[in-house]
Amino acid sequence: MSAFQTAIVPAAGLGTRFLPTTKAVPKELLPVVDTPGIELVATEAAEAGATKLVIVTSPGKDAVAEYFRPQPELEATLEERGKTDLLAKVRRASNLLAVETAIQDKALGLGHAVACAEGNLTGADEAVAVLLPDDLVLPTGVLTKMAAVREKLGGSVLCAFDIPKEQISAYGVFDVRDTGDDDVKQVVGMVEKPKAEDAPSTFAAAGRYLLDRAIFDALKRITPGAGGELQLTDAIALLINEGHPVHVVVHRGGRHDLGNPGGFLRAAVDFALEHPDYGPELGEWLRARLANS
Ligand code: G1P
Repeated sequence: MSAFQTAIVPAAGLGTRFLPTTKAVPKELLPVVDTPGIELVATEAAEAGATKLVIVTSPGKDAVAEYFRPQPELEATLEERGKTDLLAKVRRASNLLAVETAIQDKALGLGHAVACAEGNLTGADEAVAVLLPDDLVLPTGVLTKMAAVREKLGGSVLCAFDIPKEQISAYGVFDVRDTGDDDVKQVVGMVEKPKAEDAPSTFAAAGRYLLDRAIFDALKRITPGAGGELQLTDAIALLINEGHPVHVVVHRGGRHDLGNPGGFLRAAVDFALEHPDYGPELGEWLRARLANS
């Protein structure tokens, strides 16, 4: 049995950095080439063994969950027209895993968003994965490594990136100790968005968490932290203080931040350059465009 069955994806934000588009289209549905970012994240969760996805959403933001429902009329039309490739694409999201929603009706922070999903868990959920849909962690597979670390060392396991010090204050930052394994570190403290000079390391949380169910009890005991929000980081720090084992897997691959237009465009260009239909022409055009800039 996999280390977790349920993956939680917080997606209740207003997407202010993508206004005015997000007046009508949730940012999680913006296409990275032709596929919404949230499908990429859901695929990653399913590949790591999740069978259920809990999308934490805000009232009225139904389109995100709707995207995962089957579309029988569209499928019938594509079938009639013999469009088998498109049919496979259309069916992909609804076949990945079972999708449920939890409603976060006030934007009180990431910790609060995760806590909203507790009612979707069953007695079998000893741990849950949390994937932030703004973060693409590449290549995928880090959750599987994190699950192996939980299997061996117990507790909760997070994904860390080594971030340049001047950018560290945008992240949750780990205070770490070495283990025998270069890619696995023990976490002895965690702080949300510290000033660069106060940061305990340059290892930052990168949007992938495998959390023991004890997190839900800790989330009930935190008070507003950085930015006046209920921070997931503070609940993890509380668990660490109480002796709960927390480790990170240091991911040495790539990463995209889909949460702002600049990062989103980078991801789209990166994926498009790898795409057999669009890559070669786009590469040519980009080279010419940049030569004239
Ligand atoms: C959130 C978390 C932070 C983490 C970051 C990763 O912050 O609170 O600990 O490092 O995601 O992207 P946000 O980017 O939502 O401000």
